[in-house]
Amino acid sequence: MLQGKHIILGISGGIAAYKSVYLLRLLIKAGAEVQVVITPAGKEFITPVTLSALSGKPVVSEFFTANTGQWNSHVDLGLWADAMVIAPATASTIAKMANGVADNMLITTYLSAKAPVFVAPAMDLDMFAHPTTTRNIDLLRSYGNHIIEPTSGELASHLVGKGRMAEPESIVAHLEQFFASAQDLAGKNVLITAGPTYEKIDPVRFIGNYSSGKMGYAIAEEAARRGANVTIVSGPVSIKAQHESIKVIGIESAREMHQHCTQLFPAMDIAIMCAAVADYAPAQQFDAKIKREKDEIPTITLVKNPDIAADLGQMKTPRQKLIGFALETNDEEANAQAKLAKKNLDAIVLNSLRDKDACFGTDTNKITIFFADGSNKQYGLKPKAEVAKDIIDSII
Ligand code: PMT
Repeated sequence: MLQGKHIILGISGGIAAYKSVYLLRLLIKAGAEVQVVITPAGKEFITPVTLSALSGKPVVSEFFTANTGQWNSHVDLGLWADAMVIAPATASTIAKMANGVADNMLITTYLSAKAPVFVAPAMDLDMFAHPTTTRNIDLLRSYGNHIIEPTSGELASHLVGKGRMAEPESIVAHLEQFFASAQDLAGKNVLITAGPTYEKIDPVRFIGNYSSGKMGYAIAEEAARRGANVTIVSGPVSIKAQHESIKVIGIESAREMHQHCTQLFPAMDIAIMCAAVADYAPAQQFDAKIKREKDEIPTITLVKNPDIAADLGQMKTPRQKLIGFALETNDEEANAQAKLAKKNLDAIVLNSLRDKDACFGTDTNKITIFFADGSNKQYGLKPKAEVAKDIIDSII
């Protein structure tokens, strides 16, 4: 998987830097071309001579090469790379990455990198557990960086806890898995619904819900990154799709969403119904704003909206996969299982409003996926980008 890949190995100043030498060897052995970028503090722990001998390239550390005055272009490096791995990433380097403090070559390269970035933190347990480190790592996740979690064990301080850099083999496995999944949806057409629907009452009011679209758009980004042609049928949201191969069709009401989805579905390989669709809409839409009357309290009569997922479930052919979501507040599993069967889904992703920091508007979610064959998979609270990856992995 790493054959011919261009990898920047960023090394910052921590005792785990000695493991980076072995990581470099493994990457080279796997066929990657590796450019080492090391911070000034990193050079206190391992020498550029060792690193350049193993990588076959001069190690980059300073903005300029002292004797020639030649400028080392972090922009070119950032464009050259297929991936950047920062191992070890110290608390200081993580803080600089999170906040754009571009005072060394590693950080300027990170800021210029267009490729996916993998970060392997390494530090003492108290530093790792400190709220600033947690916040900075969360910020890196929110930028789409991949965090390779440190492990627990004896640290350089002889204290025992979480903060040991992941082993080089494990870092290489992360990269291999990433590149293996890189194009596993190539050529597939994927339909995703996202966001809320707005059911109009009058020109200024609607029935809606709190969906931000973050979950659906995260799934779309992941599917597009893995090579799919993605169409999002999206309710009103304030976020934008980033990947160039994502097409967004904006709608307001459930009926509009239904119309687009039923039209698009026959050409799709996979449909993922993540939108929070209103089950009911006002029977009547007023052309003018409803005025506040003194004595009379207006009554809004509701009519049932079409069930988009259920209708696609009826249209589904054996070559297609249809995945729904279940947003529950109680009797979670029973309700999710009932929806899975009723809508003829292949799988349903359950998220519960009883879980803190999950569901509406949050950057994280906690899901269980129930499959039509009766099996299920439970996951912990994770950033929505990682939840999206779990969902796509399950579909694959
Ligand atoms: O957008 P975020 O802020 O990131 O929040 C994400 C989310 C909480 C909206 C998302 O994770 C989620 O749970 N989406 C589904 C919400 C929902 O409407 O669940 P439901 O249990 O009411 O519906 C079950 C399934 O049927 C869903 O796949 C839904 O899209 C679909 N449905 C529902 C009603 C309807 N009329 N047509 C449908 O297709």
